[in-house]
Amino acid sequence: MTAGPGAFSPVRVQCGGHGTAAMPTLSIEGRRQLRGHIRVSGAKNAVLKLMAASLLTREPCVIRNVPYIGDVLNMIEVLEGLGARCQLDGDVLYIEARDLHPEAPRDAVRRMRASIQVMGPLLGRLGEVKIAQPGGCAIGARPVDLHLAGLRALGAVIDERHGYIHGRAAKLQGAEIHLDLPSVGATENLMMAAAVADGETVIRNAAREPEIIEVQNFINCMGGRVRGAGTDTIRIRGVAGPLGGVDYTVIPDRIEAGTLAVCAAVCGGDVTLSPVIIEHMEIVAAKLVEAGAGVEVNGETLRVFGDGVLKPLHIRSQPYPGFPTDMQPQVVAMLTRALGTSIVTETIYSSRFKHVDELRRMGADITVDGRVAVVRGPCRLSGARVEASDLRAAAALVVAGLAAEGETVIEGLEHLDRGYEDLAGKLAAVGAKIVRRVPTEAAVP
Ligand code: UD1
Repeated sequence: MTAGPGAFSPVRVQCGGHGTAAMPTLSIEGRRQLRGHIRVSGAKNAVLKLMAASLLTREPCVIRNVPYIGDVLNMIEVLEGLGARCQLDGDVLYIEARDLHPEAPRDAVRRMRASIQVMGPLLGRLGEVKIAQPGGCAIGARPVDLHLAGLRALGAVIDERHGYIHGRAAKLQGAEIHLDLPSVGATENLMMAAAVADGETVIRNAAREPEIIEVQNFINCMGGRVRGAGTDTIRIRGVAGPLGGVDYTVIPDRIEAGTLAVCAAVCGGDVTLSPVIIEHMEIVAAKLVEAGAGVEVNGETLRVFGDGVLKPLHIRSQPYPGFPTDMQPQVVAMLTRALGTSIVTETIYSSRFKHVDELRRMGADITVDGRVAVVRGPCRLSGARVEASDLRAAAALVVAGLAAEGETVIEGLEHLDRGYEDLAGKLAAVGAKIVRRVPTEAAVP
């Protein structure tokens, strides 16, 4: 059973594509300054993994500061499909995984790549997992080979057939694992599996994202023994006895905060964002300063202010602590307004420039050659009807809509709602002219 915090209710991704005709849209009248304070929600990419980690114990788990977003609702569906009991009460999520079975519900899994994260905990706890090959954002090939290779190194026997992954392990055994690349999801999956394996596991070339530290802290609060998260070597001593329940508050979402900061920079005005952990956002804040935005930090508050006049940038997405790929689309949208030519290189995903076609429809001058986008600013963006293709592409269209003259109508809100808790409501509260239109009211052209 779930209950959200207010009027906002996320649109859910449908399996097998979506029909936009009956879906809500977002309407934005751009070129307004933003002023005021916005509360930053809990981190999507941490919460989803902590939800998976809750499967490691039969005891009740409480996760606080949970954002009310589509991906959380979907992950609840995954956990409930496995037999766990979940209740979302405002921003507090209760999970009790007393009796589980190993087969994850196909539809919920297909909607979201993060559902692969239940593999490690289920193999560790039940010795078996059956899961459909996961879905997720359309941003290029996103294999799970590193997850599977790592689980095999821990002793699991894994079979991939008919679109399903079937894993079995009498008892996982600690191992030395060297990841070919620092995959966030593989690092987390292996940490969770290793937490209940026999002996010690060492993960080398591990991802260093702040969300990995959250997984470590969560497991340790359950009685696990993990150290090294935040560095490229993580050591996990498997715990023989059962892990216990936990009451845990999630860190703020650095990507939501970054997105809102970009909105403030492109619109001009004076916006404060809190809570943020500024170390998690240093490179984004530094790039906004380089672009000419005013940025101040006061404890857990980030202030972004200025007149919306911006300079061009060179950006290259990298694993943490580099520039996050999840901020690349929003920044490309922002740079269409900069006074000069920006170069943006995407190194993490093979096909993460889908937002560019839609930005061009709004008048942006951007060329893409492989993984490099050249953004020639300043463009006079004009409002248009556009369609979001994935989560951060949707956020980029919001940024562009705020910067454009006239009305922008964004379709594909199920992508935006996967990862942002009432983004339109938060922006409207600081002066943006932005409304969600439900289909019956859809008087947009
Ligand atoms: C997580 C984030 C996502 C972010 C990404 C990179 C969640 C729910 N999602 O995704 O928002 O964009 O980190 O910061 O936390 N790869 C392989 N084989 C694998 C796994 C990954 O080749 O087995 C490749 C991927 O295709 C991708 C790159 O590694 O090109 C990075 O992926 P990864 O770090 O695993 O991202 P996710 O955990 O899926």
